[in-house]
Amino acid sequence: MPIPPTIINLKEDFPFFKSENKKLSYLDSAATALKPKSVIASISHYYENLGASVHRGAYKLGDDVTSLYEKAREESRKFLGAKNKEEIIFTSGTTHSLNLVASSLGEYCLKEGDEVLVTASEHHANFIPWQQIAKRKGALFRVIPLDKDFRINLEKAKELMSSKTKILAFSHVSNVLGGLSPVKELIDLAKSVGAYTVVDGAQWAPHGKVSVTELNCDFYTFSAHKIMGPTGVGVLYGKKELLEKIPPYQTGGNMIATVNEKESTWNMLPNKFEAGTPNIAGVIGMTACYEYIKKLDQEEIMKHEKKLTKILLHELKKNLNITTYQQDPLSLVSFSHKTIHPHDISFMADSHGVCIRSGHLCAQPLMQALGVSALSRASFYFYNDETDVERLLRSLYEAETLFS
Ligand SMILES: Cc1ncc(COP(=O)(O)O)c(C=O)c1O
Repeated sequence: MPIPPTIINLKEDFPFFKSENKKLSYLDSAATALKPKSVIASISHYYENLGASVHRGAYKLGDDVTSLYEKAREESRKFLGAKNKEEIIFTSGTTHSLNLVASSLGEYCLKEGDEVLVTASEHHANFIPWQQIAKRKGALFRVIPLDKDFRINLEKAKELMSSKTKILAFSHVSNVLGGLSPVKELIDLAKSVGAYTVVDGAQWAPHGKVSVTELNCDFYTFSAHKIMGPTGVGVLYGKKELLEKIPPYQTGGNMIATVNEKESTWNMLPNKFEAGTPNIAGVIGMTACYEYIKKLDQEEIMKHEKKLTKILLHELKKNLNITTYQQDPLSLVSFSHKTIHPHDISFMADSHGVCIRSGHLCAQPLMQALGVSALSRASFYFYNDETDVERLLRSLYEAETLFS
């Protein structure tokens, strides 16, 4: 099966494939994606040529840096299909964003007896912050179970939803099961009982289009590093009227209007939620990242990623010792072996030059629901091809020979 030529050429854009690691099959993009040279160049450009801080400078260089930083905000707004730039907050990643929302929204709307809902397939970053804020506020933390096909059980979600439900948080795509969540249905259900909705888009943003305006969610977030941007940058969307009402998460420089011994008041949005000096180089690098993504044929790329996922799934399913845990074949495959531990599978893959993830995948509640303690996960991006799948399969067969 030939790889579309557009995709072969794109590999050229990644210095990784020219480095000493060029022989590796990198199948861990769901953890973090590789970076194109334009993103790396943009970050270096800041450190080499600009260097000043944002929102402070009473001099031209400071203003220039602030303009670049704010341009990235405008590009983030477009990427998420949001209406206002003030609704876009830069964080250090999805984990930071979700902690921010849990703390500030929870402080604003939760009281004793209220309920917070998440699903059984959440990453720890979208589970623990809600569990902890619910505990602090005397609210009940409840988990929507999965059905026998590992999908979010919408019937159970309906049963759990009531006037006591104040927040529903869920992922657009699970980092373990890989399929699309019924986003619209869940948001509509939450709206029907007046609950706020928080969507963890960490695994969807790298692969598909998002329109927070169409979704009508209250909050949406993703990590730059998973869409080929820099590490240490997250993008959080929040509805303006809510961001204005909820308290700030962190306090300090940039987020204040006035400070005196008795009281402080908060800056306008989005600064209210951006305390301290941010990851300026990283945020500026986001503009290069969006520009790179805009040049890609998203449909072609999604087809390519789906094809690789399906090939791997098809091959794994032939092996009766292997169980795959899958909703939809989108871009990743999680699996377990009857007798070989996921870490041993990873070690063997590594010895074949294949990088895959193994362990609880930051989703221990989901592991418990699936009845396993750990899984192996291979994840694809458009720079992967069938050779990567073949190498992984070969290493798996060798692991079986060695460990059985
Ligand atoms: C679904 C999901 N949510 C949240 C996160 C946390 O992202 P980060 O580590 O970039 O904060 C991840 C990372 O793997 C993820 O896959």
